[in-house]
Amino acid sequence: MKNPDDLDERVSEYLLKIEHDRQAGFDRRAEAASVLNAATGLCGPVLDIGVGKGNLAIEVARRGFDVVGVDTDPEALRLARALAARAGVSARLRLIEADAAALPFQDGSFGAVVSMNALHHLATAEPVLDSVARVVRSGGLVVLTDLSAAGLDWIGKRHLEDKGVPHPVGLVTLDAALAGLAGRGLEVRCVTLTRWETIAVLRKPSPVMEVDSQDVAGHARQSL
Ligand SMILES: C[S@@+](CC[C@H](N)C(=O)[O-])C[C@H]1O[C@@H](n2cnc3c(N)ncnc32)[C@H](O)[C@@H]1O
Repeated sequence: MKNPDDLDERVSEYLLKIEHDRQAGFDRRAEAASVLNAATGLCGPVLDIGVGKGNLAIEVARRGFDVVGVDTDPEALRLARALAARAGVSARLRLIEADAAALPFQDGSFGAVVSMNALHHLATAEPVLDSVARVVRSGGLVVLTDLSAAGLDWIGKRHLEDKGVPHPVGLVTLDAALAGLAGRGLEVRCVTLTRWETIAVLRKPSPVMEVDSQDVAGHARQSL
């Protein structure tokens, strides 16, 4: 009989599930790699919001970055910890139970904020977008990716087969998140499509230094 508390059993089940999906064409590790390949110039430390079972965060840590992952689901975090240990990246990945709408980090704490397939799970966008724009440092990247129509269709069918209930889809779309972050001063650098995902990379501009024109003229005279 299955024991729901047996972590090893849950890890094996999850690995079987993702291998089954990979053979059917939905490869989570390849999708995570596509996200990171689109995010050129990524700097750490990296915050992953809605880290779930850690597919993206583990890939980020494999590339040598220090990562903090937050999620509201303690069970997903437990599994993510076990999967990170199997992947040999526990030392670079810290997993914390926290709501993306109220991130417990200081302003500008992260070189990048990333999130994969979590937007459509959010109950509300505005406080999450406020937090994301706040915790990424100036010059840092925000990398948001969510399922395309084909991806949502795939996951919808898979979820119904597995759990007998429809896959939850909230009201927060990638387009709405991009518009919200643009309204908070971030610049969209690129949007890339894969078979299953739409990946957007944004940058928080560095503050423009205000230079007094008289100082510049004076400095130029002195240097002559
Ligand atoms: C499909 S999973 C994400 C998959 C994950 N990013 C990966 O790479 O494997 C969506 C996750 O978003 C989390 N989530 C939903 N609302 C959240 C919130 N307000 N703050 C943090 N996590 C949230 C859910 O608990 C769930 O684990």
